[in-house]
Amino acid sequence: MSAPGSDDPEKVPAAVAQEARQLREQIVYHDRLYFEQDSPEIPDADYDRLFARLVTLEEQYPGLITPDSPTRRVSGAPISEFRQVRHTIPMLSLDKVFNAEDLTQFDARIKKRLGSDAELEYSCEPKVDGVAVSLLYRDGELIQAATRGDGETGEDITHNVRTIRSIPLLIRTDNLPSMFEVRGEIFLSRSGFLRVNEAADRRGEKRFVNPRNAAAGTLRQLDSRIAAGRPLQMYCYSIGVVENFRFPDTLSEVLRLLADWGLPVSPECRVVTGIAECHDYCRQLLEKRPALDYEIDGAVIKVNQLGLQESLGANARTPRWAMAYKFPAEEMSTRVLDVEFQVGRTGAITPVARLDPVFVGGVTVSNATLHNMDEIERLGLRIGDRVIVRRAGDVIPQVVKVIPSDEANNEYGEVRTIVMPTQCPVCGSVVEKDGDVVYRCSAGIICPAQRKEAIRHFASRAALDIEGLGDKLIEQLVDRGELKTVADIFSLSVEQLADLDRMATKSATNVVAAIEHSKHTTLARFLYSLGIREVGEATAQGLANFFGTLDRVIEADLEQLQEVPDVGKVVAGHIRVFFDNEDNLALIGQLRDGGVYWEDVDVATDSRPLDGQTFVLTGTLESLSRSEAKARLEGLGAKVAGSVSRNTDCVVAGPGAGSKLARAEELQIKIMDEEEFLGFLDDLS
Ligand code: IVH
Repeated sequence: MSAPGSDDPEKVPAAVAQEARQLREQIVYHDRLYFEQDSPEIPDADYDRLFARLVTLEEQYPGLITPDSPTRRVSGAPISEFRQVRHTIPMLSLDKVFNAEDLTQFDARIKKRLGSDAELEYSCEPKVDGVAVSLLYRDGELIQAATRGDGETGEDITHNVRTIRSIPLLIRTDNLPSMFEVRGEIFLSRSGFLRVNEAADRRGEKRFVNPRNAAAGTLRQLDSRIAAGRPLQMYCYSIGVVENFRFPDTLSEVLRLLADWGLPVSPECRVVTGIAECHDYCRQLLEKRPALDYEIDGAVIKVNQLGLQESLGANARTPRWAMAYKFPAEEMSTRVLDVEFQVGRTGAITPVARLDPVFVGGVTVSNATLHNMDEIERLGLRIGDRVIVRRAGDVIPQVVKVIPSDEANNEYGEVRTIVMPTQCPVCGSVVEKDGDVVYRCSAGIICPAQRKEAIRHFASRAALDIEGLGDKLIEQLVDRGELKTVADIFSLSVEQLADLDRMATKSATNVVAAIEHSKHTTLARFLYSLGIREVGEATAQGLANFFGTLDRVIEADLEQLQEVPDVGKVVAGHIRVFFDNEDNLALIGQLRDGGVYWEDVDVATDSRPLDGQTFVLTGTLESLSRSEAKARLEGLGAKVAGSVSRNTDCVVAGPGAGSKLARAEELQIKIMDEEEFLGFLDDLS
């Protein structure tokens, strides 16, 4: 006899039926949080697992399938406050695969269905992580915007969508359909998301967990002034109902036409032939992912010929001609095993969560910063809690949410409250509260942790750039009492260094040579290397540009300091406190005696290499921030403008550069990529 249920798919074992029921309840519960309250409790990856399990059970036991199973419909019932909009053509969802092999099978399935071995043309697009919407244009005018809702009925969000600057309210062009619907994804960029959360912090409001929730939360506001203040964007990816018009025969041509009409279409869309080229596209897009200023959770591969799409048709909730290739999740759940406290350069004590290692955003993460005690309180976090960890782009891993314990079936056992220690975990000195949220070790440079951090900072790339003097060496030298201040670096000998772990005469000689080489620096680097509170690279460069000599910076009063771009009262105060301290002045004296030097600039009379030139920065630069690049250019005498015109001398374009780059090409203006730009700066500095 065979096992019950294995030979008769209609007969469902009680345990399986029970599991399916529970899965459906959980999925419905999480759908409501995700779609209706914009406040999910579990990461998408966990949700996908629940959903996939239900699909597997239903495939194994078709008797389990109910007409209202979440696998049969698109999630997200409309909320009540908005007018409901019925989609004439349902807005479908997408099937997804997580590996290359399953994507190849998708291609094989389609070919089989079409009864042809010929390679297919695919439209490849980024799967932008936002909110699916439908826009309706009549006689060129945007008359309605709606969310997808449950796929059949969505909500009218016209008032909010009208505030999105990249969506034309009126399309002025000949030969337009009398009516047409365009569909796409509305999203918030990563930088826009940070700004929205900073604004929420300032107002003491709840932060959004991720850009998608922030976009969804914005679109469901009744007051459109809220959306108007948030930088929402949209990429269009298909059309819906159309009246009196013949669109081109392929999706890629349709998208090009939409772009010609002024509708936003992702610049990452490509047409390829055959599934091998789809794999290449997915690989390249995944590589590009960290450089994009918006979140994508995968690629979407679509049969390009609209005629073939029609013959392939759709299942209950997904078309057969499209597939989402999902990238590694940027949010995962894991457990907080412990919380430790790290002491930084200025003595600030930061709680760090030690996590049960988890693969997220393409790497294994075992630590996440918790910033400060306020953050812990805001999260309601305790040791032992299950949490959502997020690692998106190059941003350091964050704990974004605690998963309520009953949600995870009380699996974790004991939990402990997190308490700030009263003594420094490194040197045992008293911990003092500084302002509302910051706690500091009171020992200053005597605390080995602060000493190590200060030396590490001094030697770092953006400061004196001492190659080879890394964390391991600094750690040992401080522990042996051979480095007490940064000035001691300049009397280190080859013998001393050769005596350290994993060092030999050759490597020690190299480090001593690097120390010697670092002595010739710039005023900006030197100011940055001192580790004055809140004086980052850009501020240090600003100070150097403005004053030209160290003596003039040291002598500047609070008012003069505030004349420097981006220096406000607080930063000016930190600078004054630093230079009013005799020990710091003595240290500067020792460094100069030790041979550290730079060329002073008489800002009033000296000419600078880029005087009179105008630069424009666009796209993302990897090795320096926008403000640092700007400060360095300004230090060389250049002006940095926000838009490209005939007066622009040079455009520096990183990945993701858009219209400014196009304009520069059109005007035949000199364009530099990041590598050329860095070389150019080095030659001039
Ligand atoms: S096509 C009939 N294309 O992914 C196919 N969807 O999981 C309908 N999405 O609801 C969708 N980027 O919110 C399509 N380039 C893209 C997309 C995309 C993001 C979202 C959209 C959709 C969901 C399906």
